[in-house]
Amino acid sequence: MTKQRILSGIQTTGDLHLGNYLGAIRNWVEIQEQYDSYLFMADLHAITVPHDPKVLASTTRRVAATYLACGINPKQATIFIQSHISAHAELAWILNCITPLNWLERMIQFKEKALKQGEDVSVGLLDYPVLQAADILLYEPDHVPVGEDQRQHLELTRDIAQRVNYKFGTETQPILKVPNPLIRKEGARVMSLADGTRKMSKSDPSELSRISILDTNDAIATKIKKCKTDPTRGLEFGNPDRPECNNLLTLYMLLSGQTQATVAAECAEIGWGQFKPLLTETTIAAIAPIRDRYDEILAEPGYLDTVLREGREKAETLANATLSKVKNALGFAPMI
Ligand code: AMP
Ligand code: TRP
Repeated sequence: MTKQRILSGIQTTGDLHLGNYLGAIRNWVEIQEQYDSYLFMADLHAITVPHDPKVLASTTRRVAATYLACGINPKQATIFIQSHISAHAELAWILNCITPLNWLERMIQFKEKALKQGEDVSVGLLDYPVLQAADILLYEPDHVPVGEDQRQHLELTRDIAQRVNYKFGTETQPILKVPNPLIRKEGARVMSLADGTRKMSKSDPSELSRISILDTNDAIATKIKKCKTDPTRGLEFGNPDRPECNNLLTLYMLLSGQTQATVAAECAEIGWGQFKPLLTETTIAAIAPIRDRYDEILAEPGYLDTVLREGREKAETLANATLSKVKNALGFAPMI
């Protein structure tokens, strides 16, 4: 029996944080044996906001090495860089021409990011979800494992695929496969350490708002020491008036691998002074081995290059086949 396929990616706008790990990568690792996995570094998405050309390539490689360090097995998964496969940009163009503008104007992430950018909003930022749809549809995945914040983009991807099929396909021969989101409840939304109502994000100007997977033990300890809490003693899940409390307990639960009931019982009576060292210790125990493996991966000459070259070759074949199918269906002149 052939395995079902998954595809996912992360923007290369900075080092990955606990939200990326708990909301995305950890899930990819858990299901990689079960599925044929395609995982990529979204560097074309990284330039939808102003970027620094001097660090783009190295950030992309750091993200790739982080995937491997977190336990993605390149013998099982296909790992590649988005910009190395021109079919992404080409299909995005084609999809642009069939996507109504008002579908993009209502995207929450666009509205939030556009507000932050002020005057400097590129067409690329508006078009971001169409490129994402191209990323996905090229590989005909069954499922797309992402965090909760990507639900709307996945719905748009489904709408775009259905529109292509409706306009250019037939009932019996759809052109694009309509994928399903795979969003786990736990960890789907890790919040900022500085404000429990905002999500942890690479683009938050404050380093103190997030724990990077590559942070040193000292940095982790400092960030947890300084993170926002509340004046109430006794910690609990799910109290809407205590978003920080819910977030920090959830992090503790996920990183320690305990159940919610166990953590709720353990923390019901304690105060922040007792909880913070516990969370620090647990976070360091979860992250330190990943950081060590990351260093080993980058120290091995040529290893990452080989993974990325093999990944590109395999991904490209699949992507180009889907692109040809779409171009044929839209009536482009065949290549001579
Ligand atoms: P990004 O960093 O925005 O490229 O996101 C890459 C992946 O990490 C996507 O699957 C996101 O849904 C997930 N992700 C990003 N931030 C968070 C967060 N704060 N909590 C949970 N998942 C997240
Ligand atoms: N937009 C995604 C994010 O910010 C990253 C991404 C780009 C992606 N292309 C994708 C995720 C394709 C899944 C599938 O999280």
